[in-house]
Amino acid sequence: MSALTVRNLNSYYGSSHILWNVAFDVEEGTSAVLLGRNGAGKTTSFKSIMNLGPSVRGRILLRGEDVTGVPPHRLARRGMGYVPEDRRIYAGFSVTENLRLGGFAFSSNGRPMEPDEVFDLFPLLKPLAARRGGQLSGGEQQLLAVARCLVGRPSVMLLDEPSEGLAPVIARNVLDALRSLRENTDFTLLLAEQNVSFAMNLATHVHVLEQGELVYSGTKEAFDADPALKTRYLSL
Ligand SMILES: Nc1ncnc2c1ncn2[C@@H]1O[C@H](COP(=O)(O)OP(=O)(O)OP(=O)(O)O)[C@@H](O)[C@H]1O
Ligand SMILES: [Mg+2]
Repeated sequence: MSALTVRNLNSYYGSSHILWNVAFDVEEGTSAVLLGRNGAGKTTSFKSIMNLGPSVRGRILLRGEDVTGVPPHRLARRGMGYVPEDRRIYAGFSVTENLRLGGFAFSSNGRPMEPDEVFDLFPLLKPLAARRGGQLSGGEQQLLAVARCLVGRPSVMLLDEPSEGLAPVIARNVLDALRSLRENTDFTLLLAEQNVSFAMNLATHVHVLEQGELVYSGTKEAFDADPALKTRYLSL
């Protein structure tokens, strides 16, 4: 079943037409990656799905139900998790408090995760439990933002460039946590990435945006088998 369906998505900032008839499905339990150069429209796609800014024409379905125009806090309650590019953790609160606040803000599928369950998934956060958010490194804040989103057990998670600027050891923890969720639950992920090798560690499907248009959709295997795609669309 399709966990997330995007149909005929056209998005605008004022009079600038940014996304043009974007359409794709993310099947339950899979991990799709949205690739594309800077400015291709990855973040705008996420903001359009979450109703956070651009004006939108088209349809968004969450597990078959029309959620077009549903405000972000309601989407969260219906199981949609979103980690934006700017992480916005609570600088004055400890790591544990940030995690508990994630449960209040986003709880959707039953009981939120306890901090100890989160630390099982994110062992790098455990020794930082009492540290204030504002006193974490950039990479640690990023890890916390991903972890905090997961506290509410989202069934579909939108993750905007999680690997950006991460040291390999932190990127590895993000990968391991997301893989473990995919293996043990029916967790569905839509990831935006510039870092193709990070993305390919997770992705089952690939979608490529170019200047606001979806120019490629296929399985990870099909994408990998055609290196010309990477040079054409991603200058790799
Ligand atoms: N608030 C805004 N108002 C007007 N134009 C915007 C706004 N935000 C983004 N844009 C424009 O929309 C286009 C798509 O931007 P978007 O942020 O979606 O790209 P992206 O693929 O996420 O890029 P990056 O990889 O750099 O994060 C760009 O041309 C950008 O300049
Ligand atoms: Mg972006």
